[in-house]
Amino acid sequence: MPKILVVGSLSMDYVVETQQIPQQGETVFGTQFKQFFGGKGANQAVAARRAGVEVAFCGAVGDDPLGQQLINNLTDNQIETDHVTKIPASASGTAHITLFEGDNRIIVVPAANQQLTASFIQQCLIDWENLSMVILQNEIPQTVNRALIDRCCERGIPVLYNPAPATQLDSEIIGQITYLTPNEEECKALFSELSIEEAVQKYPNQLIVTLGAQGAIYHDGQAVCKVPAMSLTKEQVVDTTGAGDTFNGAFAAAICRNLSLAEAIQFANQAAGLSVQKLGAQTGMPYLDALSG
Ligand code: RIB
Repeated sequence: MPKILVVGSLSMDYVVETQQIPQQGETVFGTQFKQFFGGKGANQAVAARRAGVEVAFCGAVGDDPLGQQLINNLTDNQIETDHVTKIPASASGTAHITLFEGDNRIIVVPAANQQLTASFIQQCLIDWENLSMVILQNEIPQTVNRALIDRCCERGIPVLYNPAPATQLDSEIIGQITYLTPNEEECKALFSELSIEEAVQKYPNQLIVTLGAQGAIYHDGQAVCKVPAMSLTKEQVVDTTGAGDTFNGAFAAAICRNLSLAEAIQFANQAAGLSVQKLGAQTGMPYLDALSG
């Protein structure tokens, strides 16, 4: 089975559903509160594992009960956690999520996730043999991502970089990445002078922009290609938190299982479409037998 390494964040998601967003200084009532496992890194790892590849995870949690729960969740999902470090005297990462009118607003408190260091990653390098791909996002320090991209480049390991939350990237880094997968807003942040169509044309078969309910868009070297999302009613969409992560994990798994780029995007759209039908980032992430491809 192909093996993917995910280097990224682990967080506990604290989710409040409300029918009213408070104004400044105002208090409103919510309708429901729940706690879910999250963090973009952990979400993408779970999505990839369920989509049929082996996954190792590298990241940081606090030396607190929450940190152990975050690690246990990965092991419960058959993900290797030998390189998840516990940072002394640090809290674990948390995300504070408000669900309102079918969409989410998220405040992340990175805590231990921001204490991951490039030198810790170097120590783990010895175990990174035979990797089919490395997946990165932006909830750990940029210095770690940069060091990793350099190492992967030296070793010829493909890198999928999901630039979320949005950040600037220089063109040298973009040149080292195999797949770059921003959503629409992140794409605008990366390529402010280009339309989405112009951006994908500039990076054929490399830049894949996720468009939520509209699916995803890329350029295959000949033309701009749009891959539609699963068609869902408003009632079917319960929680879009983690849909992008599901796309990324499933896409990486599909590429490593030798699907073509077009097939992998279709597969990832299908996984994301299934994931939004349950509350919580990881709850609805499908297993391989629920997916075609
Ligand atoms: O992408 C969704 C994730 O972003 C949530 O699970 C939350 O942890 C935030 O990091």
